[in-house]
Amino acid sequence: MNLIEKLNWRYAAKRMTGQKIAPDKLTRILEAIRLSASSFGIQPYTILVVENKEIREKLKPAAYNQPQITEASHLLVFAAWDNVTEERISAYINLIAEVRGMDVAMLKDFKDRMRGLLKRSTEENFNWTARQTYIALGTGLSAASMEDVDSTPMEGFDPKAFDEILKLKEKGLRSVAIMALGYRDSEADPLSKMKKVRRPLEQLFIQV
Ligand SMILES: Cc1cc2nc3c(=O)[nH]c(=O)nc-3n(C[C@H](O)[C@H](O)[C@H](O)COP(=O)(O)O)c2cc1C
Repeated sequence: MNLIEKLNWRYAAKRMTGQKIAPDKLTRILEAIRLSASSFGIQPYTILVVENKEIREKLKPAAYNQPQITEASHLLVFAAWDNVTEERISAYINLIAEVRGMDVAMLKDFKDRMRGLLKRSTEENFNWTARQTYIALGTGLSAASMEDVDSTPMEGFDPKAFDEILKLKEKGLRSVAIMALGYRDSEADPLSKMKKVRRPLEQLFIQV
């Protein structure tokens, strides 16, 4: 199947069977997320791959008891940096220098441009890191469909409660979105048989 057929097949599963995803499939979905684009390439987020059943039982009430939390094979919690800091920028500059075999001094102009972010408020920077995080989420949804794995993007949860349960504050992170990964339970989920609703091309796009 090509990408369009896969995207027509995918839907936000409300119920999942609990069946486990084969490790190689999960690895490729995570790799696609790792390869996602981000502003400056800085990837200002971390993704928690939650498989532990007890932790997912604890998270469930904080996600309005949505069944996918425990019925999924894995739960990806997309957590954005709570702020952009000098240390985080330096770590990224060091990574570029290492990967590309460059001297850090050659990256000074690029670093200075990124350091412009330090002038913004914590909340402004968090809004920016959260936006970057959604791009990774989108990449993950498409990647899962290519692996014939179901996925549900989810914002229906209490980020503060998630941050507490997953100890994200200590890591300088804030949860922004979840992706449940697993296999649809077609019997239990009437939505699995419903037609996809999308605005027509001529409404969604303006040709200029
Ligand atoms: C950012 C975001 C948050 C969402 N939150 C939830 C959620 O909490 N629970 C849920 O069941 N679906 C959630 N959805 C799924 C949407 O309802 C679904 O993608 C939309 O209705 C389109 O249907 P489809 O993806 O099945 O084609 C979310 C989708 C996105 C993109």
